[in-house]
Amino acid sequence: MKYIIEGGKQLKGEVTLSGAKNSALKLMAASILTKQEVILENVPKIGDVFTMIEVLKSLGVRADFDNGTLVLKADNLTSYEAPFDLVSKMRASIIVLGPLLARLAKSRVALPGGCKIGLRKIDIHIRGLEELGAKIEVSHGFISAQVKRLTGKKIELDFPSVGATENLLMAAVLAKGTTIIENAAREPEIADLANFLSNCGADITGIGTDTIKIEGVKQLKGCRYRVIQDRIEAGTYLAAAACTKGDILIKSADASLLTMVIHYLKEAGLDITANAKGIRARSNGCLRAIDLVTLPYPGFPTDLQGPLVASLAVAKGSSIVTENVFENRFILASELNKMGASVSTQNHHAVIKGVPNLIGTKVKAPDLRGGAALIIAGLLAKGETVVEDAFHVERGYEDISSKLQSLGADIRVER
Ligand code: UD1
Repeated sequence: MKYIIEGGKQLKGEVTLSGAKNSALKLMAASILTKQEVILENVPKIGDVFTMIEVLKSLGVRADFDNGTLVLKADNLTSYEAPFDLVSKMRASIIVLGPLLARLAKSRVALPGGCKIGLRKIDIHIRGLEELGAKIEVSHGFISAQVKRLTGKKIELDFPSVGATENLLMAAVLAKGTTIIENAAREPEIADLANFLSNCGADITGIGTDTIKIEGVKQLKGCRYRVIQDRIEAGTYLAAAACTKGDILIKSADASLLTMVIHYLKEAGLDITANAKGIRARSNGCLRAIDLVTLPYPGFPTDLQGPLVASLAVAKGSSIVTENVFENRFILASELNKMGASVSTQNHHAVIKGVPNLIGTKVKAPDLRGGAALIIAGLLAKGETVVEDAFHVERGYEDISSKLQSLGADIRVER
């Protein structure tokens, strides 16, 4: 499938955010931890959610997804193995490792696939679960884990990995005794997971900080819970507005989740105001170059690096972008350069020399966020841009083409 974009249209109007992909997927995995029904609201209709539903169904979880509400019941788990054909579609499937281990004392997950943005290792997940008493073997393309009884411990992560923090948190809620995760990742989606688990009866303190303390409980109950808004989606629309003479309101968007994103975009010249209505962004279409560094939260999110690089392609001056989270996240550069951008990369740095215009052509989405960045490039370019392999984008963005159309973009999907 492809997106076909006629560039040069001003983005104007209001847009509503969907639920956060990176939270919804984890809350879904966490449903494994209880026999009772879990009802999740504000779940985005995106490819990765449908893949996670398949992963859960393959384990015996009953799932019913209707109009953003997902009802899950894991009263009768029939398997402890997440198969390769599903895991290879989505790396986030690794997140069932911890909950399966906590519930069944056994789990087997195929080695993950997903975005081609680097090695995406799993050593921190493995070491942490071993600290909680699991025996883990990685062979024949699978991670196999088993345990007599998960037992709480103090674990210090080498790096604040989002997935490892979540896997350990979910394993620890049913472990015996106290677990303390130090140097934990602080992404808002982790706090959302911890709040969900607390609603199910888990005993967690330090939510939202880098030290999370979990007192294990015997069992969890079900609950009804609303997924937080997608801050990465919000940042993507801000980046799109920044380079299209935009004047948009992102309704009910929470600026406190986007502090660094707003900081950098303001520095680049975007006029941003935030109030109870949401975040309003206005641009005169003329961006200034900036130097930008990605970091774990509360730093600037790596997931928005690509969308920002696309906008900065037409900024006045040269921007330097340093990517500190994933090692291969500049694969987008060659596609942008096909459109006339001047992006050169060395190791984890990119230099973007602003050019007056991008010119539409045929490009290929390298991954989810890279695809979103190419859509932004298409919106600002002169002429027609065709973004191929657009299925990547639909893994993570709900209704992106219709949301952009409602803002005045000329974009259509060809399936
Ligand atoms: C999650 C997000 C992704 C986001 C990323 C960083 C989901 C589904 N995905 O991915 O959108 O870009 O956080 O904010 O929530 N690492 C190791 N060993 C490990 C684990 C990670 O070396 O055991 C490295 C990775 O290779 C990577 C870095 O740590 O370079 C960050 O990875 P991590 O925070 O785990 O990201 P994900 O959970 O995969």
